[in-house]
Amino acid sequence: MSETKNIIYLNGSYMPVEKATVSVMDRGFLFGDGVYEVIPVFGNKLLRVDEHLSRLQNSLSRISLPNPCSNEGWLEIFSGLLEKNAGDDRAIYLQISRGAYPKRDLAIKTGFPPTVFAMVLQVTPPDIEIVSAGISVITVDDFRWGACDIKSTSLVANVMLKQQAIDAEVEDAILIKNCMISEGTASNVFIIKNNVLITPPTGHKLLPGITRDLVIEIAKNDTISVEEREVKEAELYTADEIWMTSSTREIAPVILLNGEAVGSGVAGEMWKHVTDLYQQYKLLLRSSN
Ligand code: PDD
Repeated sequence: MSETKNIIYLNGSYMPVEKATVSVMDRGFLFGDGVYEVIPVFGNKLLRVDEHLSRLQNSLSRISLPNPCSNEGWLEIFSGLLEKNAGDDRAIYLQISRGAYPKRDLAIKTGFPPTVFAMVLQVTPPDIEIVSAGISVITVDDFRWGACDIKSTSLVANVMLKQQAIDAEVEDAILIKNCMISEGTASNVFIIKNNVLITPPTGHKLLPGITRDLVIEIAKNDTISVEEREVKEAELYTADEIWMTSSTREIAPVILLNGEAVGSGVAGEMWKHVTDLYQQYKLLLRSSN
């Protein structure tokens, strides 16, 4: 059996993943002092790459880490990775940490190069037939910090919250802060009420999801009403539909919330319609020049 090599990018070089090493003094390893992005790829076309790179810039600025590459530089790295790794629908993962200092010290110092890492994730886009079966979720207390707009590699809180869902034998959790919805453990949340898409506004309480923005754009272009406003936890229980959106999950319909049926208990009509538009958008991207 021929083995496909996983070629990654690390600090200016491409190499097999087994050859890639990072110092134990790296601040990404010691402190989770870094940021990351996940960019979907359909037939070699990057989905919303400009938006992902501008969110990356925002994350870097928020943690006072200079961007090590221009946008052109990033695109070159991505196309190098896509060329060196076989596949069609995939995703690019990239991460930048503040690099290795000689001493373990929280203080930021200049003069140390960041660690720049990127790889191809062999994630297959969700199969619509399977997705339409819907997911079960629970609500959990969002005990994270007040800087959730940073796509930080410090994900231990998200790991703990996801584990609460796994322990409850459901797929995911909707995070609740002060009786308001913030987001999922790795996704944004929409509720649908009387044919209106409602999602919490961006800010420090959640990650400004690229899929979230695309869903809003697609819906508005189709003259569907969208409200970006605070959403009360109680609204989950009277919603017609609930969705969770992310680059890897796309639009997942929630059919069971804390053991109770959402709406009619199956993926809703609005989900079918917007998912259809989303898939059409992907097809257009795939066939674009
Ligand atoms: N996560 N909120 C959180 C906390 C996330 O981690 C993500 C994505 C999102 C959705 O963002 P986007 O639509 O840009 O993917 C919202 C990625 C997929 C991950 O960590 O793997």
